[in-house]
Amino acid sequence: MHPIRGTFVSLGLILSLTVTAAPVEADTATPGAPGAGDPLFPLDGNGGYHALHYGLDLSYEPATAHLDARAVVTARATQALSRFGLDLSGLTVRSVRVGSAPAAFRREGQELVITPRTPLRRGQVFRTTVTYDGTPAAVNEPGDPYDGWNVTDHGAFVAGEPQGSRTWFPLNNHPSDKSAFDVTITVPEGYTAVSNGRLAALRTRHGHSTFHWHSPEPMAGYLATATIGKFRTESYRTRSGLPVYNAVDPREAAASAPVLKRLPEVLEWESGLFGPYPFSAAGAIVDHAPQIPYYALETQTRPLYCKAPTIITLVHETAHQWFGDSVSLSRWQDIWLNEGFATYAEWLWAEQHGGPTAQRFFDDAYAKPATDPVWAFPPALPADYTHLFDDPVYTRGAMALHKIRTLVGDHAFFDVLRAWAARHRDGHGTTAEFTALTRTVSHKDPGPTVATWLYGKGKPARP
Ligand code: TRP
Ligand code: ZN
Repeated sequence: MHPIRGTFVSLGLILSLTVTAAPVEADTATPGAPGAGDPLFPLDGNGGYHALHYGLDLSYEPATAHLDARAVVTARATQALSRFGLDLSGLTVRSVRVGSAPAAFRREGQELVITPRTPLRRGQVFRTTVTYDGTPAAVNEPGDPYDGWNVTDHGAFVAGEPQGSRTWFPLNNHPSDKSAFDVTITVPEGYTAVSNGRLAALRTRHGHSTFHWHSPEPMAGYLATATIGKFRTESYRTRSGLPVYNAVDPREAAASAPVLKRLPEVLEWESGLFGPYPFSAAGAIVDHAPQIPYYALETQTRPLYCKAPTIITLVHETAHQWFGDSVSLSRWQDIWLNEGFATYAEWLWAEQHGGPTAQRFFDDAYAKPATDPVWAFPPALPADYTHLFDDPVYTRGAMALHKIRTLVGDHAFFDVLRAWAARHRDGHGTTAEFTALTRTVSHKDPGPTVATWLYGKGKPARP
């Protein structure tokens, strides 16, 4: 909280109490906004509070796909709140408490609207406990399939970008709000439940295993996972002491082994280019989910793959740990800051490992005719959420970075990437902030390049 503002509020509170002898909250507390204000997802996230910590306690029965759960959300009110929302889709809510008092709640589309017994003061840290259960299912909207909890033959493949995390826990579902997580998952013995961060505890008794995952660094809700399967697991430390935990479906073991073996090398190579690895754990989850055509997600600390990844996919998802996970979006339109950067990491990997140069990738993409989907829209201006993961965001986003690199030179370019990761670590960034940082670090004007390659309509006239 801002110290001066905090003092001001308390003074105001005391004065009002003295003058009116009535609780000031009742007069000034208003409902939190139903969304975080993202133009592409007006209802995702919520106004009026910042979520500090999620304590999720899940119990999943793969045979019946039934989830029994309790979520404890610790948050700080950013305004006096008469009521507030959490995003949640499907499932049945049994009870809600704010602090120790039962709270009134109702379901309104994707919102769980909660009215605490007494309004919350601005600055107040409060704890909301939601007990719920049911059969979770992915969002499955047109243009956004497999987003959320996907049932597999041996468990669940759980990936929430951009909106699917609300299919398995109530949250402030927008990357502008990042929080620490503790996820505890109980599954029948023989199954493994994998989430983000470090495995803090594992206990098996009475035929059930409980996995407690601890994730201290701020994380956007869409990067959380609770993937369940009959996995083979391995854990070790890299040369620099980073703990790695991998979980692999045995049906993907042979194909993924040679790629996963290179994770320490990829982490080291990317740390050299982008600066220190931003988290206290690493790893991979390789599931076997043939019903999903292709899906990999940069779940924080431990990317998730629906089948054995190629080395290039591993490089891509690992690069997201810096770009997308540690440095988060403030709004979804800036998605090229995630995908353009991760794609450019692929080009850099090829360039430095005996493959084509980044210039070659650029030239091949530029050779595509003006009618090609890669020119369908400017990367920094996706029109709606069904186009967030289209070619312009990935390929033309990477092309924009390559143009910036050729403008400022290699030395300044890699300084810019490292400065971006360092200054916005565990935080947020926007396209405008990236442009400004590029200018500051390189002493060159990226304005025209940004205007053409990130904001210009159609195929740019000159490569
Ligand atoms: N962010 C993922 C990646 O590139 C891809 C992804 C996440 C995605 N959600 C999606 C692609 C939805 C298509 C649709 O690593
Ligand atoms: Zn990506």
